[in-house]
Amino acid sequence: MATLPLLLLLLLFISTSITTTTSSSSSSEQDLLLSFKSSIINGSHQSLSNWSPNTPTCNWTGISCSTSSPPSITSIDLQGLNLTGSISSSICQLPHLSHLNLANNLLSQPIPLHLSQCSSLITLNFSNSLLWGTLPDQLSQITSLTVLDLSHNQIEGQIPLGIGSLKSLQVLNLGSNSFSGAVHSSIFANLTELLLLDLSQNPSLSSELPVELGRLSKVKRIFMQGCGFFAGIPESILALHELEEISLHTNSFTGFVPGSIGKCSSLESIQIQDNGFYGEFPAGLWSLPEIRIVRAENNRFSGELPDFVGVPSLLEQIQIDNNSFTGRIPKGIGLINTLYRFSASFNGFHGDLPENFCDSPVLSIIDLSHNSLSGSIPELRKCRKLVSLSLADNSFTGNIPSSLANLSVLTYIDLSSNNLTGEIPQELQNLKLALFNVSFNQLSGSVPLSLVSGLPASFLQGNPGLCGPGLPNQCIKTERKKSSRSSGLIFAAIAIAFAFGFMLLALGLFAVHRLSCKKSLTSNWRSVFFYSLGIREDELLMSLDEKNIIGRGMFGDVYKIKLPTGECIAVKKLSNSGKLSFRTAKAEIRKLAKTRQKNLTKLLGFCHSENVVLLIHEYLSNGSLGDSLCNLESPLELTVRMHIALGAAQGLAYLHKDHSPNLLHRNLKSNNILLDMDFEPKITGFGLDHVIGETAYQSIVASELASCCYIAPEQGCSKKATEQMDVYSFGVVLLELITGRKAEMPEPRESIDIVTWVRRKINMTNATHQILDPNISNSFQQEMLSVLELALRCISVVPDKRPKMDEVVQSLLSVYTTVQSLRIVSGETSISSEH
Ligand SMILES: *[C@@H]1O[C@H](CO)[C@@H](O)[C@H](O)[C@H]1NC(C)=O
Ligand SMILES: *[C@@H]1O[C@H](CO)[C@@H](O)[C@H](O)[C@H]1NC(C)=O
Ligand SMILES: *[C@@H]1O[C@H](CO)[C@@H](O)[C@H](O)[C@H]1NC(C)=O
Ligand SMILES: *[C@@H]1O[C@H](CO)[C@@H](O)[C@H](O)[C@H]1NC(C)=O
Ligand SMILES: *[C@@H]1O[C@H](CO)[C@@H](O)[C@H](O)[C@H]1NC(C)=O
Ligand SMILES: *[C@@H]1O[C@H](CO)[C@@H](O)[C@H](O)[C@H]1NC(C)=O
Ligand SMILES: *[C@@H]1O[C@H](CO)[C@@H](O)[C@H](O)[C@H]1NC(C)=O
Ligand SMILES: *[C@@H]1O[C@H](CO)[C@@H](O)[C@H](O)[C@H]1NC(C)=O
Ligand SMILES: *[C@@H]1O[C@H](CO)[C@@H](O)[C@H](O)[C@H]1NC(C)=O
Repeated sequence: MATLPLLLLLLLFISTSITTTTSSSSSSEQDLLLSFKSSIINGSHQSLSNWSPNTPTCNWTGISCSTSSPPSITSIDLQGLNLTGSISSSICQLPHLSHLNLANNLLSQPIPLHLSQCSSLITLNFSNSLLWGTLPDQLSQITSLTVLDLSHNQIEGQIPLGIGSLKSLQVLNLGSNSFSGAVHSSIFANLTELLLLDLSQNPSLSSELPVELGRLSKVKRIFMQGCGFFAGIPESILALHELEEISLHTNSFTGFVPGSIGKCSSLESIQIQDNGFYGEFPAGLWSLPEIRIVRAENNRFSGELPDFVGVPSLLEQIQIDNNSFTGRIPKGIGLINTLYRFSASFNGFHGDLPENFCDSPVLSIIDLSHNSLSGSIPELRKCRKLVSLSLADNSFTGNIPSSLANLSVLTYIDLSSNNLTGEIPQELQNLKLALFNVSFNQLSGSVPLSLVSGLPASFLQGNPGLCGPGLPNQCIKTERKKSSRSSGLIFAAIAIAFAFGFMLLALGLFAVHRLSCKKSLTSNWRSVFFYSLGIREDELLMSLDEKNIIGRGMFGDVYKIKLPTGECIAVKKLSNSGKLSFRTAKAEIRKLAKTRQKNLTKLLGFCHSENVVLLIHEYLSNGSLGDSLCNLESPLELTVRMHIALGAAQGLAYLHKDHSPNLLHRNLKSNNILLDMDFEPKITGFGLDHVIGETAYQSIVASELASCCYIAPEQGCSKKATEQMDVYSFGVVLLELITGRKAEMPEPRESIDIVTWVRRKINMTNATHQILDPNISNSFQQEMLSVLELALRCISVVPDKRPKMDEVVQSLLSVYTTVQSLRIVSGETSISSEH
């Protein structure tokens, strides 16, 4: 009878004793953390608000526990919380604490000595936390450390020898500090586990490289750039069989690079530029199986390049400018099809350029200026990604190859100071050149005007045979007569051809018009309205009258039609040349009609016949952005422009990312951005490829758009449309908004498109401010410059460098917010403005 209560009592006792033990253990860990919090946190912080006894310790921000029972704290990760205050020694009493990360805080104190008591630590990260003072030797007591990251602080003094006894270290990062003096020669003797060594950007270090570096037999990456290392690289480096990346640039080395570095067979990248290295360049480097990047510019290396014939190579980047290399440009340089940069200016290379020197399909930068190269410049056909070509200050002869004009992203050409002859090829006018320096050659003939308009005249000087406006020589009489006569003839021929073509076209149009009028009433129209428009199909068709046309686009005319209700709609008439069936068209257009985003025009319905598709859109009263840009009377004010930029970016980002399936616009331009009553932008004209079919779309675009400046340069060599091409077009619209210029000026001859114009201004010193629309108040210059920078990224000639649309949205959003708040401060009026 008495046993039952006794048993219960016993059970109760056991259970309470269990709870008390667990809670006492975790509460002692909890107390340690709370004491850590109370010292590190300084007043205003919310980030550790859940560090309170009400929440289980293991759920506190930044705390991780072991899975053992009871759990114990193994990791404290409080990076990026702006913590200040002092680091309490209490955490070193946590028996299982192995990871401590306080990176990116505002600790502003020396490294606490008592950290050395945290004997179970495996990783310690204090990167970028405003630490100062010296690195205490006592840290060497934490013998279990494998990761020590103290980078980006202001730690000073010598690197203590004690670091050398942390035998388990795999990562040692002391980069970007203020360490000084010599690196103790035996410090690396025992760090045989090290994988990453970073001592970079400690400009006050002044030391030879310790021979013991060779003991780091597992090391993969060594960063020692931006310090004060001098003398040479020790032979012992050949022992680093795992070494993949070594960076020693921007030091004061003045010795040799041992040939044995060519035995580091895993090496992928070596950067030893900006030093005073001299002697023979280690030839073995060129043939390493994994080598990709060799940068050795601004040294005094001598030697020749191997011919690269018959050895497979992964080289991507060769930069050896400003040395004393001699010999010829390698015969096999064009065979390295990964090479994207080859610069070897300011050396002693001589002889001809190999025919294939530009054959790498990814090559984008060639700089062989300031050598003694001769012969003619080979035709460049294969390097479709070439952006910059400099062959200045050599002894090249012959003509400027006209094949350059086929390299659509070529933007910088410097052929100055050679002995080139002949005329400047007219075809080069196709390129959007930001730099075209052909000064000091023997060129002759008249200069293609649009090629050089907007560029400084100094790019042409020193060619006594060149003539034309702005040059000292006007083209001499006989020549001009001849050329003007022949060009007169050509003009006449063109004029006649045009007139004839126009007549045909007019006749054709007339016929088509007649036909379609007749047909439209008889033929088989089928319509789908997604909204009730209060108008019948036949009424709609009847009102497609010439006098209702409000726009003519390359895909067809746009009509404004007034509904019986008094509202207006816009109808775009597309020719159904692809002969898409009603069923296909319906499926495609239905998808488009599902787009619901405030910055895309709403599709209200469509009519379909065998020859024509009519797309019915909402009508927007403020016309297009293109029209507004032409309206010089009342230029849009800045907030409105930013509002338009942001809205259009959001619309495009929606098409790219949120619309299902994802859509490309493929024809974005300011005329396709419509503005409603409140200047809310609405993109139109997207998805037409879906409505009329890809083949028909392509043939229209190919005939009409080839030279339009909204089109990304790579579109010339790739038929596949990409998001990046839309981003490019958007960048051009952004340029229009901040310059107040239309993308293409209507008057021909000297006019250059906006992209070329902006690039040329940027390329000239102190002309950047001329780019911004003078109608925008100076007080927003900062913001405008940041939009300019964004626009330039969007129109980067390298598609991969362009930002994604959602990134563009983010950037514009922040500019828009700033502009708006500045405006409110300066007491100006609200956005849906006085226009
Ligand atoms: C603590 O975290 C665990 C695991 O993530 C979760 O299941 C539990 O609900 C959390 N407790 C509290 C009070 O937040
Ligand atoms: C830290 O401070 C910076 C600058 O004041 C601020 O931008 C950032 O949001 C802060 N971070 C946190 C986590 O409080
Ligand atoms: C809090 O920080 C301020 C400066 O950031 C400092 O002056 C003050 O002494 C700190 N207080 C504590 C208790 O650490
Ligand atoms: C230390 O933390 C910083 C900031 O999060 C991080 O970038 C860095 O990679 C960390 N260091 C190591 C060695 O993991
Ligand atoms: C390296 O290890 C040896 C043997 O354990 C020891 O004598 C020497 O002091 C260590 N060197 C350093 C720099 O810690
Ligand atoms: C060439 O390198 C030296 C240092 O080696 C430097 O002083 C000089 O400015 C460099 N010249 C050019 C044109 O970069
Ligand atoms: C151009 O050729 C002339 C004679 O043919 C020669 O004197 C001159 O040095 C050459 N100029 C250059 C830059 O090679
Ligand atoms: C440019 O490319 C076109 C088409 O690929 C070709 O017909 C033309 O000959 C090329 N022009 C030059 C100068 O190589
Ligand atoms: C054009 O070339 C000449 C001759 O090499 C040079 O003096 C001048 O600085 C160059 N101009 C530009 C803008 O590169």
